[in-house]
Amino acid sequence: MKKIIIAIDGFSSCGKSTMAKDLAREVGYIYIDTGAMYRAVTLYCIEHNLFNADGTIREEELKTQMQDIHISFRLDAETQRPVTYLNGADVENRIRTMEVSSRVSPVATLGFVREALVRQQQEMGKDKGIVMDGRDIGTVVFPDAELKIFVTASAEIRARRRYDELKAKGEEASFEEILHNVEERDRIDQNREVSPLRKADDAVLLDNSNMTIAEQKEWLKRQFDKAV
Ligand code: C5P
Repeated sequence: MKKIIIAIDGFSSCGKSTMAKDLAREVGYIYIDTGAMYRAVTLYCIEHNLFNADGTIREEELKTQMQDIHISFRLDAETQRPVTYLNGADVENRIRTMEVSSRVSPVATLGFVREALVRQQQEMGKDKGIVMDGRDIGTVVFPDAELKIFVTASAEIRARRRYDELKAKGEEASFEEILHNVEERDRIDQNREVSPLRKADDAVLLDNSNMTIAEQKEWLKRQFDKAV
């Protein structure tokens, strides 16, 4: 069967990664969560004091340190879920905190950060057989992807899902704080100068506000079957 590239873009916390991960597992493709890569750079900035007290980034220092930031993914042998590594350390849980969520979008506006990560993402997908999710996969990383999906849902529903997810993990969470974070990331992602979040003209739109995970999974598999 021919191998293709599947680009899944869309707003924050709209379930892209769950859909993408499930499809990749089902069809035997590699799954890459590009948001995890921007989150890992953000965690690096937090741990290396690259944020000023006012929340701005020490850009020149980060620029010189980009070559020291190595991000990779490995499958957890037990759960078969991808785990994010930053310079050899498992950072999967540490990149999902509210602190990282609230600092990641400004980091993702920096052109030199995007260039470095986009280059790595293109390298990861060069043999196809990949499902990649993010904000600019269908527009910038793989503009020729054979299947492009753009996912959206109302901000309240996305915040509710994120809230339930954090609660299920036993983490403290405030619904209002999460809703604010989701809306703020949407705003920054859509309005940044470099690779703003937008639907590629040839992407299929999916509003999953009222869909179950099983329904989304079936819908995506049908799109895949049509594309291969
Ligand atoms: O997908 P996730 O919500 O984990 O992504 C975290 C942040 O990384 C997004 O809010 C966005 O600012 C940034 N991002 C991006 N381009 C991508 C993936 C994520 O700018 N391809």
